[in-house]
Amino acid sequence: MPITTCVFDAYGTLFDVAAAARQAACEPEFPHLRDSWAELASHWRLKQLQYTWLRAITKAHADFWDVTQDGLDWAMEAAGLAGDAALRQRLLDLYWELQAYPEVPAMLKTLKSAGMNTAILSNGSPAMLDGAVQSAGLGALLDDVLSVESVGVFKPDAKVYDLVGKRFGCAKEEVLFVSSNGWDAAGAAGYGFATAWVNRAGEPVDRLPWKPAHILQDLTAIPDLTGS
Ligand code: LAC
Repeated sequence: MPITTCVFDAYGTLFDVAAAARQAACEPEFPHLRDSWAELASHWRLKQLQYTWLRAITKAHADFWDVTQDGLDWAMEAAGLAGDAALRQRLLDLYWELQAYPEVPAMLKTLKSAGMNTAILSNGSPAMLDGAVQSAGLGALLDDVLSVESVGVFKPDAKVYDLVGKRFGCAKEEVLFVSSNGWDAAGAAGYGFATAWVNRAGEPVDRLPWKPAHILQDLTAIPDLTGS
C-alpha cells in the first residue's frame, strides 16, 4: 500500500534537544557549562524519557512540560548545579525555541509538493509544540501537530498512534512514522506503521520485538522512502 501520510516525532527528530544546553554553554553567564553541557543534556533527556515511560505504566500522567522540568531538575542536581536558578530558567526558555535540524524545511517542502499528508505526533504539550514549530518556521509545512495530551498518556501507548488514523482517515500501512528514538520507532512498528529510525548517533538497534523498516543517518532520504 503506498504511503500517503508522513508523521514525525518532534523532540530529537525534527528539533535538536541538545541545542538548549549547547547554546547556554556559549553564553557568557554560564561559563561553568562549557565542559559539562553535553552530559547535562544527555541526563536531562534520559530522565525526561524515563519519567514518561514510568508515568504511562503507572497511569500517573503529567504533561510533558512538567516531566521536562523534572528531568532537568534531576540532571542539574547530578551535575552539582541544583541551586542555579538563572541557568534553570535559561535552559527552560531555550526549550521553547529549539533549532530544527538543517535538512528539515527542504525535506518537508518536498513531501508537501508531492501531496503527502505531514504531521507531528509528539509527547509534547500543544503549547510547547506550537512554540517549537513557530520558532523553526515549520507551521506552513505541516498539516497538523498531534499531541498526546488529547489522550492523556505518553508513547508508546497505542492510543497515541491511533491519533494518526483518526486525524487523516488512513490505514496504518499508509503511514510512514519517523523517529530518532529507537523505542518510539520500535513501538510504532509494533503498532503497524511503516517506520524509519533516524539514528544520527550511530547507536545499536534496540533489543525489542519490533524493528524499524528503515534506518537513516538524517532526514534527507525521507521523501525517497515515501516515493515523493
Ligand atoms: C516526542 C519525544 C518522544 O517528541 O521526543 O514525542
